[in-house]
Amino acid sequence: MRTQVAIIGAGPSGLLLGALLHKAGIDNIIIERQSGDYVLGRIRAGILEQITVDLLKEAGADARLKLEGTVHHSIDIGFKNQRHSIDVHGLTGGKVVTAYGQTELTRDLMEAREAAGLTTIYEAGEVSIHDFDGKQPLVRYVKDGQHHELACDFIAGCDGFHGVCRASVPKDAITEFERVYPFGWLGILAEVPPVSPHAIVYANSERGFALCSMRSLTRSRYYVQCPLDDKIEKWTDDVFWDEIRRRLDPDLASRIITGPSIEKSIAPLRSFVAEPMRFGSLFLAGDAAHIVPPTGAKGLNLAASDVKYLSSAFIEHYKEKTDAGLDSYSERCLRRIWRAERFSWWLTSLLHRFPDTGGFGQKIQEAELDYLVTSQAASTALAENYVGLPL
Ligand code: APR
Ligand code: PHB
Repeated sequence: MRTQVAIIGAGPSGLLLGALLHKAGIDNIIIERQSGDYVLGRIRAGILEQITVDLLKEAGADARLKLEGTVHHSIDIGFKNQRHSIDVHGLTGGKVVTAYGQTELTRDLMEAREAAGLTTIYEAGEVSIHDFDGKQPLVRYVKDGQHHELACDFIAGCDGFHGVCRASVPKDAITEFERVYPFGWLGILAEVPPVSPHAIVYANSERGFALCSMRSLTRSRYYVQCPLDDKIEKWTDDVFWDEIRRRLDPDLASRIITGPSIEKSIAPLRSFVAEPMRFGSLFLAGDAAHIVPPTGAKGLNLAASDVKYLSSAFIEHYKEKTDAGLDSYSERCLRRIWRAERFSWWLTSLLHRFPDTGGFGQKIQEAELDYLVTSQAASTALAENYVGLPL
């Protein structure tokens, strides 16, 4: 088998890249180690920057997003039992974010890919990549007990943090930067109307961080900061609802509508960047190259901006016969990635309880929150990062 671009991983990065390349007439095959249903079973974040919405439109997969996505003009920051609205729209000259679940976005891209008759090989085992330091790279995998080889011009490593692509790069060719945070997020999904349908609420409380988000007007997504070694069994639905109420201001807490959870999990928080993102004919994109803590809702959006740069670079290579975009891919991505890493780290530091902060750190956090919600300059800095820095 042969294709122009072999894409490893059918998460949002791989699917979006495949769609954009297909629109430009560039052949691609996706190789995914899980089944489609497994990929759709992963519950992840759900706030889209405008560039991500625009890319979905470019990919021809935005019909449902246009109908079901909820536009947010502001975000709320809670602390000391009060809530403060940050007018993101007003402070950024009219920019907004859209609430739409990553699961739904993935489903839309999968369906568009199937409708276009493009090849995705699900449940591929023993995926390995070869000869990407030369011009004839190769992907090997096993499907239904048979060994296969896929020859290609380029390999796009869209296989997430635990994928095979980054792991296949020689150790001395790659530098990794990492910070692991001393807590996790317990998240639940429930079939109840969101307490704050017009603005995501980020709350700093004495008991730790809490977040009120949504998937639709009838489905809510809530999170609380928790110790990393907490057992999920300890967090019955009742314990969760009691805890989140204690972390919100009294007005919001009294209005929260509770109900049985349909998903519940604990996720660690991590900042991670691997540099560079290109190794000969192998290009990393999305979680394969970087992770942000979810506090700024940047993970999916960064994956989308990588894919925008990468698809443009492949299109230039095939249509305009120039490799300028491929040569500058890593540098262009990393500049935007590090700025999003900084923002996500900053917002995480501002809103969570750290075990070793002490009284001084606590007071500094309170002063910074006070400054953030009373200074237009500080609010604007938050707003422009939240809606996404320009490409
Ligand atoms: N071979 C083939 N596929 C693989 C392999 C492998 N060895 N290893 C992993 N995969 C697949 C995974 O099963 C997954 O479906 O690659 C896909 C990677 O998808 P994601 O982890 O969702 O990463 P990405 O597409 O870059 O999406 C980034 O996801 O987690 C969020 O914060 C992140 O929102 C961001 C988005
Ligand atoms: C979510 O809806 O899951 C969500 C929203 C905002 C975040 C993180 C997660 O910062």
